[in-house]
Amino acid sequence: MAEEDLDKVLEIESLSFSRPWTRRHFLDEMKSACGYPTVAILPDGALAGYLCLKQVLDEAEILDVAVDPSLRGRRIGRLLVEGALASSRKRGAEVVSLEVRVGNNEAIALYQRLGFREIGRRKRYYDNGEDAILMEYTFNLSPEE
Ligand SMILES: CC(C)(COP(=O)(O)OP(=O)(O)OC[C@H]1O[C@@H](n2cnc3c(N)ncnc32)[C@H](O)[C@@H]1OP(=O)(O)O)[C@@H](O)C(=O)NCCC(=O)NCCS
Repeated sequence: MAEEDLDKVLEIESLSFSRPWTRRHFLDEMKSACGYPTVAILPDGALAGYLCLKQVLDEAEILDVAVDPSLRGRRIGRLLVEGALASSRKRGAEVVSLEVRVGNNEAIALYQRLGFREIGRRKRYYDNGEDAILMEYTFNLSPEE
């Protein structure tokens, strides 16, 4: 993610979340030593989505991910999350965590498909009283676990 991406990123962000991140939020992620914000670009150069990952030592966290509403369902979200898993693993991550609204079926289905598991809930975590599901992807689990 670069500064010139931010107009489009902020447009997608405001279409995707009731409490969207601000320009300052994204700039802070771009400056942060443990921030790894990335964008998905279509072959025609259009910015289709983005993902903000934070990593401290062996723990990574997906802080924000969204795809342009007109381009959803084309596996761009999946590509972004798979990219985050691969890059955090290369930097030595053992786990990747995230929080998701209990009612966000599309996102939960995507995370489950990729191997994230629910590890807990935060009751009434969001403004509207909705619970958050905490999910985690663990790299070194054997298939039986
Ligand atoms: C969540 C989000 C990023 C997914 O992006 P996307 O590009 O549409 O997702 P994909 O096309 O990669 O779909 C991947 C998987 O998600 C699930 N999925 C996607 N759209 C779905 C839908 N409409 N209904 C149910 N599941 C759906 C499917 O399991 C799909 O698996 P498949 O590839 O095997 O079919 C996108 O919906 C989005 O931007 N939502 C708003 C922001 C948001 O909620 N972010 C997550 C916050 S935790």
